[in-house]
Amino acid sequence: MVRRAIVSDIHGNLEALKTVLADIRAQGCTQILCLGDIVGYGPEPNACIDIARTFDSTIIGNHDLAALFDPEGFSNTAEQAILWTRKQLESGDTPENCYARLDFIANLPRTRREGTVMFVHGSVRNPINEYVFPEDIYNNRKMEKLFSMVQRICFQGHTHVPGVFTADMSFRRPEEIGYKFDLGQEKVMVNVGSVGQPRDGDWRSCYVILEDNTIHFRRVEYDVDVTIQKIYDIPDLDNSLGDRLRDGR
Ligand SMILES: [Fe+2]
Repeated sequence: MVRRAIVSDIHGNLEALKTVLADIRAQGCTQILCLGDIVGYGPEPNACIDIARTFDSTIIGNHDLAALFDPEGFSNTAEQAILWTRKQLESGDTPENCYARLDFIANLPRTRREGTVMFVHGSVRNPINEYVFPEDIYNNRKMEKLFSMVQRICFQGHTHVPGVFTADMSFRRPEEIGYKFDLGQEKVMVNVGSVGQPRDGDWRSCYVILEDNTIHFRRVEYDVDVTIQKIYDIPDLDNSLGDRLRDGR
């Protein structure tokens, strides 16, 4: 019985990532998949990339892409963080390590497919950039289009709001379903939440364990004050990026 961890949206939050990795090991997972946004917003992009390089599979996210190329469509705060992140990627410890990190990000795929199971950062339609929010269940056109493109299961991230979208246009939050969902033949889109910047009102890191046909949502407490202080100490990272971590928003 293989237990696989699916993580997403680490966003340079090393404290959160280290704590989640300890939980993943304690849970007996033997594989780690990452749905992108290793960097952006957070204070330790290089260290997070070095850890992500040890994962079994990683997909590119919009912040990873923006850190390498031109940021487009981001808020001022996010763009400033992206430009700072790029500086870190380009001026890390040694030229060899910098090159290896940039090379790793530049070669990440946009999607991963395993039979009828898809892995993306955003959505099945637009893997890098499209958000699928809980309130989109009221947007029939959008949801019908997305579900028509899902073969059976689509694991995604990007919104930092964990939960399960079902084809009958409902969204189940982890706490409503006992942090557990059984996968059947019905189509679902599963948002695995965010390790480094949760936005569902719960500050704890979130990730998913996939075991046979059951998914478990895990919430993990980490030392959020350490990350907040690191953000405060970097002038290019707006203090609000630290403050939001405490509230999970
Ligand atoms: Fe993200």
